[in-house]
Amino acid sequence: MARIDGPLGDALTDLLELGFADLYLQPGPPLPAAAAPPRPEPAPPPPEPVAVEQAAPPPPAPASSETRLASLDQLAAEAQVCESCRLCRTRNKVVFGSGDPRAALMFVGEGPGAEEDRQGLPFVGPAGELLTKIIQAIGLDRNQVYIANVVKCRPPGNRDPRPDEAAACRRFLDGQIAAIQPKVIVALGRVAAQTLLGTDLPLGQMRGRWFSVQGRPVRVTYHPAALLRTPAWKRPTWEDMQLVRDRLAEGAREAV
Ligand code: URA
Repeated sequence: MARIDGPLGDALTDLLELGFADLYLQPGPPLPAAAAPPRPEPAPPPPEPVAVEQAAPPPPAPASSETRLASLDQLAAEAQVCESCRLCRTRNKVVFGSGDPRAALMFVGEGPGAEEDRQGLPFVGPAGELLTKIIQAIGLDRNQVYIANVVKCRPPGNRDPRPDEAAACRRFLDGQIAAIQPKVIVALGRVAAQTLLGTDLPLGQMRGRWFSVQGRPVRVTYHPAALLRTPAWKRPTWEDMQLVRDRLAEGAREAV
């Protein structure tokens, strides 16, 4: 296959590695024989309506950036010795979160798996490798985002976290969001999204719309582990992530 040089070629390579080959290598319609007369640029589509739903009232925002970073460190220290639920009895390591504490983009997963429990870091197993590629596909490095889970200790056998476990851990997640103040949050999978948003909606009804937590836009997409099982969901995930990337760019433009 011919190699395209430059940023477009790099982006295509990223997408191929992510598994989006089927999307981008399909032949397009034949090109017209003669050049068509120039047409005016189509008007950009109107912005997507934002469905704002508040899962819980936001905690008061800490004042300065230093205060917020200190509160994140304090929370991490508290999590290390937390015994608020049964998961503390079977955990090996607490998996508080990792990444840039000033990140514009935050991912929220479900809970640590075996490898995460061993290393004390989120998304470092096979699902984590795919999450890293998803992050790279929107032009970011893993260390430029923040990654956390709704529960900080591994549920035995990778079962879903129970509601009382998620509730016991909620103050850590809320504290992380309040300290980091991300411009966009991505909830990975049904369990993470339902817990973060405080809803029973099925994944199909959570995808495709914007929610709000602590006044911050939340997008729901498939969990990377689900993408490993069902590669056909990579395409809708890519579509979700393009909207996330656009939303981040809006935030960046507003900040200029
Ligand atoms: N799955 C999750 O939801 N979180 C992790 O940290 C790893 C796998």
